[in-house]
Amino acid sequence: MRLSVLITGALVSALASAHGAEETYSSEQTHYSESLHAQSPPLPTILANASDYGSCAAASWPPSDVGTQLIPQAPDDEVQAMMKEIDPVRIQAIIEKLVSFGTRHTLSNQTDPKRGIGAARDWIAAEMRTLAAPSGGRMKVEVQSYIQPVASRISFPVRISNVVATLQGSTDPSRVYVITGHYDSRITDVMNYWDDAPGADDDGSGVAIMMELCRIMATRHPKATMVFGAVAGEEQGLYGSTFMAQTYRNASVNVEAMLDNDIAGASVGDKGQKDPYTIRLFAQGTLPNGTESAARVATRLVIGGENDSPARELARYSNEVAANGATGMNVAIIYRLDRFLRGGDHSSFLSAGYAAIRFTEPNENFAHQHQDVRVENGTQYGDLAEFVDYDFTARVAKVNLATMWSLANAPGMVRNVSVNATTLSNDSEFYWAASNEIGLAGYEVVWRPTTAPLWTHVVPVGNVNTAKVPLSKDNVIFGIRAVGSNGYKSPAVIPFPVS
Ligand SMILES: *[C@@H]1O[C@H](CO)[C@@H](O)[C@H](O)[C@H]1NC(C)=O
Ligand SMILES: *[C@@H]1O[C@H](CO)[C@@H](O)[C@H](O)[C@H]1NC(C)=O
Ligand SMILES: *[C@@H]1O[C@H](CO)[C@@H](O)[C@H](O)[C@H]1NC(C)=O
Ligand SMILES: *[C@@H]1O[C@H](CO)[C@@H](O)[C@H](O)[C@H]1NC(C)=O
Ligand SMILES: *[C@@H]1O[C@H](CO)[C@@H](O)[C@H](O)[C@H]1NC(C)=O
Ligand SMILES: *[C@@H]1O[C@H](CO)[C@@H](O)[C@H](O)[C@H]1NC(C)=O
Ligand SMILES: *[C@@H]1O[C@H](CO)[C@@H](O)[C@H](O)[C@H]1NC(C)=O
Ligand SMILES: *[C@@H]1O[C@H](CO)[C@@H](O)[C@H](O)[C@H]1NC(C)=O
Ligand SMILES: [Zn+2]
Repeated sequence: MRLSVLITGALVSALASAHGAEETYSSEQTHYSESLHAQSPPLPTILANASDYGSCAAASWPPSDVGTQLIPQAPDDEVQAMMKEIDPVRIQAIIEKLVSFGTRHTLSNQTDPKRGIGAARDWIAAEMRTLAAPSGGRMKVEVQSYIQPVASRISFPVRISNVVATLQGSTDPSRVYVITGHYDSRITDVMNYWDDAPGADDDGSGVAIMMELCRIMATRHPKATMVFGAVAGEEQGLYGSTFMAQTYRNASVNVEAMLDNDIAGASVGDKGQKDPYTIRLFAQGTLPNGTESAARVATRLVIGGENDSPARELARYSNEVAANGATGMNVAIIYRLDRFLRGGDHSSFLSAGYAAIRFTEPNENFAHQHQDVRVENGTQYGDLAEFVDYDFTARVAKVNLATMWSLANAPGMVRNVSVNATTLSNDSEFYWAASNEIGLAGYEVVWRPTTAPLWTHVVPVGNVNTAKVPLSKDNVIFGIRAVGSNGYKSPAVIPFPVS
């Protein structure tokens, strides 16, 4: 038996009358006719706002009283306590230690105890085993590796190793959230594995953020499983993260989100511009070929779902839970896979069919990335620790912590979300697979105008598997999300038409 709820509220009759016309379609939808109302239409609303075009009426249409304004999920006491444990001094120590290995190029020495990627790998693994100790066996550290054959940026067969710590979830261990940074480094010539390649920001910062979260989470009991990874081979072609993502894919692991931190430690751009309270979040709209059925790709295009990929919903989620006074950060979502000419480990997880996003500092200084360490024409080049802002990096870690913790303690994303599109209707009716997971309290319908970047409205509907709202699916984007008895909410999922 299907449980049902009808959300009552004033209909959006204002819209119909403002429009002043009724539209009818024949069943074949080939004939179109329009009959004007007898009375004059009301005065038009202002279409554009000359002083602030971006927030013009057109961008927030339709006006509607369905649901209430969405209030972002605020960090609770536990999240705030964990955030306070993030330590800029520890982040600095991790980054300086990584720099001390001289180079961490993927093709560099793997057996020298002091210099090269092998020494870095062994130090990270030993450090993470120490960090895992307080978990009482719930967090396990492994060095996952394979031999990468010769390829365009691999001049001889080389072992690629990822250091991976897995913290078993307490009530929903099969649901997994991954955070990574890459510990390999490079300089101007991507094949130069002998000269110093400090890689403080790229990507000592991402590794340090991941290791701080690893340390703090080892003493906590998240509902779902968390994975902390230091991956290698990024600069040579995303090899380590590809191996990691494909390993999960092949084992059908339910990775619900992956957070890639790469170049997330400096707050001053190449023109001296400072923006220490913003982190960029890159999120792709379309899904990589082969990760969604051809039928679903076609439907996504028809229903306007191109801005609602799982990665985009993850981006909205991170903004909702982590852009606040507790992190002290803005989360600037960029609707794009990555920066031009650049790539990152989130791509490996996207290609494996998982939702993945990338965090990167707001203003990059390219003299400090992928550069031989040198002074030229009075300018210091190179990815040196002196250019990292440890307080900024700590705040980026807080954004990751709030996002990761909220995800892992909320219910999982709602499955099989669909919308009834079998008949013409001004209402919108949704169905989904009700979950019996522990700690699930119910569901919410969220919506936003199609041009709004973030969800703007929410309608709590209770613990049901269907809901009907008096607002047309033609005019807004809808999503369904789950609510835990602890108050945590899952990322939204957009409905596809019932086939
Ligand atoms: C236009 O935008 C400005 C600045 O955001 C705002 O103060 C004003 O109320 C807006 N006007 C209308 C008609 O929306
Ligand atoms: C790596 O370093 C060790 C110890 O210094 C040295 O014996 C070995 O020859 C080096 N390996 C390579 C491939 O250079
Ligand atoms: C995943 O499975 C494919 C197909 O069986 C295989 O070719 C590939 O090597 C596997 N990758 C990993 C990382 O296990
Ligand atoms: C997507 O993948 C399919 C199957 O591998 C292939 O036939 C098709 O050409 C690909 N499409 C694009 C646009 O790359
Ligand atoms: C340094 O100055 C020389 C001479 O003007 C110029 O050729 C070179 O490109 C400059 N280097 C950089 C990195 O701008
Ligand atoms: C969709 O709505 C129509 C009209 O109300 C109804 O007849 C049909 O059963 C609904 N479809 C589903 C799957 O419930
Ligand atoms: C949509 O709503 C309008 C205004 O309330 C009503 O006149 C019209 O019949 C409705 N259309 C359908 C298909 O329900
Ligand atoms: C979702 O729908 C598919 C196809 O109908 C079905 O195989 C699967 O079990 C459903 N998932 C859930 C969680 O109900
Ligand atoms: Zn990088």
